Amino acid sequence: MPVPGPTDPAAAGLAIGFYNKTCPKAEELVLEEMRDIVHEDRTLGPALLRLLFHDCFVRGCDGSIMLKSRSKKGERDAMPMSYSLRGFDEVERIKAKLEDECPLTVSCADIIIMAARDAVYLSNGPRFPVETGRRDGKVSLCIDAENDLAPPHANIVDLKTYFSVKNLSWKDLVVLSGSHTIGRAQCAAFAPDRLYNNSGLGVQDPTLDKAYAPELRERCEPGNKEDETLVDMDPKSPYEFDLSYYRDVLSNKTLFVSDQALLDDRWTRDYVARMAAAESTEEYFEDYAAAMINMGRMEVLTGGNGEIRKFCSAYVD
Ligand code: HEM
Repeated sequence: MPVPGPTDPAAAGLAIGFYNKTCPKAEELVLEEMRDIVHEDRTLGPALLRLLFHDCFVRGCDGSIMLKSRSKKGERDAMPMSYSLRGFDEVERIKAKLEDECPLTVSCADIIIMAARDAVYLSNGPRFPVETGRRDGKVSLCIDAENDLAPPHANIVDLKTYFSVKNLSWKDLVVLSGSHTIGRAQCAAFAPDRLYNNSGLGVQDPTLDKAYAPELRERCEPGNKEDETLVDMDPKSPYEFDLSYYRDVLSNKTLFVSDQALLDDRWTRDYVARMAAAESTEEYFEDYAAAMINMGRMEVLTGGNGEIRKFCSAYVD
């Protein structure tokens, strides 16, 4: 697994084990709390993993997804992408534990990435080291989230652009999309494009598996653009971090246009096909760890930048 060198500018100020001296039990306490959280409600594991994606892509991994806005103009308020986000209280719960242990030391941004990493591990995925040392930002704007997060109807060209402007590659895209092997989505996020009104033509997406589509139609109401019904993204093993996402993509049985789109590019398609056929998770788990490191380096605040606050969910206005 590639470990950042001290000369890598993206990683400046980040280190594996950043809190070894200042808060030696930090990683252990996050895992302990995550175990309890997932034990109480297993749907929170995927929710916390998704929170990392939303934190990092918008103004970098700086904990800004946690900030609240009274005027409803924060990242959390972005329509429609942030609406179903969950896990805020759980990040705050972990933060409280860490504040007890070592006050004003561990950033919310680092808590989010450690919690996401543990969510993967607790779903029988890989356990891998993540860099820490991020500090928290003070700005949170819904317009940034609207601009920087790929929508579920994004095509492959758009997806690669959303990733490349953040210095992530096609490989990071196809590897991190595999996170959709766990968790659920609301009908509103996929039914209009995939089931009822593809390309505005009032038809089903022709690329969606013909036998799977009727099962989804039974769950999602036609014409209801706000249908909050939740559907497992990888129905055979919705809480197992495994390779079945890639088998789902290859057999046209995923929920989003953005998942299906991975078949529309030679490199991402080849990767999907290889992982779908793989007998072991070894290569994928290594790739996933590397891609998480890459995502975790996005536009980070380190050193004297940003802050460490007592509560993650402070108000910005
Ligand atoms: C490639 C672009 C991506 C798009 C367009 C996308 C889109 C979405 C959408 C629309 C949902 C369902 C939200 C809902 O209806 O509640 C979702 C769920 C999820 N996404 Fe993504 N996503 C992308 C990348 C990622 C990445 C990079 C990660 C993590 C590293 C991720 C992790 C998740 C997880 C774990 C869930 C399930 C959340 C839950 O069960 O609460 N996604 N994604």
